[in-house]
Amino acid sequence: MSERVIPLIDYRIASLAARLPAQPVGATGLLVDTLGRPLNDLRNSVTDRCNFRCSYCMPKEVFDKDYPYLPHSSLLSFEEITRLASQFVAHGVRKIRLTGGEPLLRKNLEVLVAQLAALRTLDGAPLDLTLTTNGSLLQRKARALKDAGLQRVTVSLDGLDDAVFRSMNDVDFPVAEVLKGIDAAQAAGLQSIKVNMVVKRGTNDHEILPMARHFKGTGVTLRFIEYMDVGATNGWRMNEVMPSAEVVQRISAELPLVQLEPSAPGETAQRWGYANGGGEIGVISSVTQAFCGDCNRARLSTEGKLYLCLFASQGHDLRALLRGGASDADLASAIGHIWQGRSDRYSELRASLPAEAGGGARRVEMSYIGG
Ligand code: GTP
Ligand code: 5AD
Ligand code: SF4
Ligand code: SF4
Repeated sequence: MSERVIPLIDYRIASLAARLPAQPVGATGLLVDTLGRPLNDLRNSVTDRCNFRCSYCMPKEVFDKDYPYLPHSSLLSFEEITRLASQFVAHGVRKIRLTGGEPLLRKNLEVLVAQLAALRTLDGAPLDLTLTTNGSLLQRKARALKDAGLQRVTVSLDGLDDAVFRSMNDVDFPVAEVLKGIDAAQAAGLQSIKVNMVVKRGTNDHEILPMARHFKGTGVTLRFIEYMDVGATNGWRMNEVMPSAEVVQRISAELPLVQLEPSAPGETAQRWGYANGGGEIGVISSVTQAFCGDCNRARLSTEGKLYLCLFASQGHDLRALLRGGASDADLASAIGHIWQGRSDRYSELRASLPAEAGGGARRVEMSYIGG
């Protein structure tokens, strides 16, 4: 029998209805959850499809040709996304990240970018509008995205060695194309470009130093992510997690690092600067040093369900309200009410949970709600 856990139920069906609260919750910008955490960051998945099959995210055995991806009619339209986004912004959201799957697979994404770029925060400022991509289509799309109002971009890249990279994306995609995509993003004038590398011990940890050397001094911020037990299909094992402390130690041995102050509350990454100049790196330690305490992130799935945690097993169906004729005030009230009831802090609790109580097979996939 295979060791891999395959979900027995489709988590996408098991959603919670988003209700209108008896006492309307106005969009005042003062919204906090039960732990006092504000809502500042919205991550919006625009497709559940991807052209890569990274084993830690969309393993080939599960996401094969028979996998039931969402039909087009289930997806929120750009107008629906923008309408919901503006209610999140009214509650205090300042940053919107488009995710997937692979967001650049969604046709005409720049049209959505232009709509979101027109929104203003409660203080009248433009949003911090960004996107997480695997970079495969960036060369083709960077200019149009920038012209539409995208401010910055984060590219996932798990190694520089072509063989390692091809085997991690599991579709034999060459690393050179992603590097060209990053160059195109820089040439198009996208700001503060980041590269995210998920580190799996024994798979790509020997790429840590080559990656650090490559991006040092380029203006691109490289960030190392601890491999997480997200979803229910990736066969996660603690012994494949490389703690960020070890990543920092390895880099520091050759390229000395000094710790930097956080640049924003609720940030995922701890920042380290090269002592001798050349920019900074980040480490995202959600396994060994959880950062739920000030987690200000909401996730909106491709079909309009609001998830309060990356590790949640159920989302709140906002699409039903939206398509059922709710007013903007109703939508804002429903979102506010859901956030007020939030108490999620999965990563902090993980350590104390028995293995099977952590959500296990019922956890939603990251390709569905977005990283
Ligand atoms: P910046 O605004 O550029 O700092 O981006 P970010 O770090 O907020 O977002 P990004 O999508 O780059 O996050 C990088 C990775 O951190 C994700 O792919 C996840 O692996 C992890 N991550 C992001 N948010 C969360 C979170 O809320 N909880 C946990 N456990 N991990 C997260
Ligand atoms: N652990 C950590 N990060 C993950 N991502 C996807 N799956 C995982 C996982 N199991 C993140 C990576 C990737 C982004 C799209 O999602 O950061 O770059
Ligand atoms: Fe696709 Fe990104 Fe998931 Fe890899 S990590 S399968 S590139 S969505
Ligand atoms: Fe936020 Fe959940 Fe991640 Fe904790 S585990 S930081 S609550 S998304």
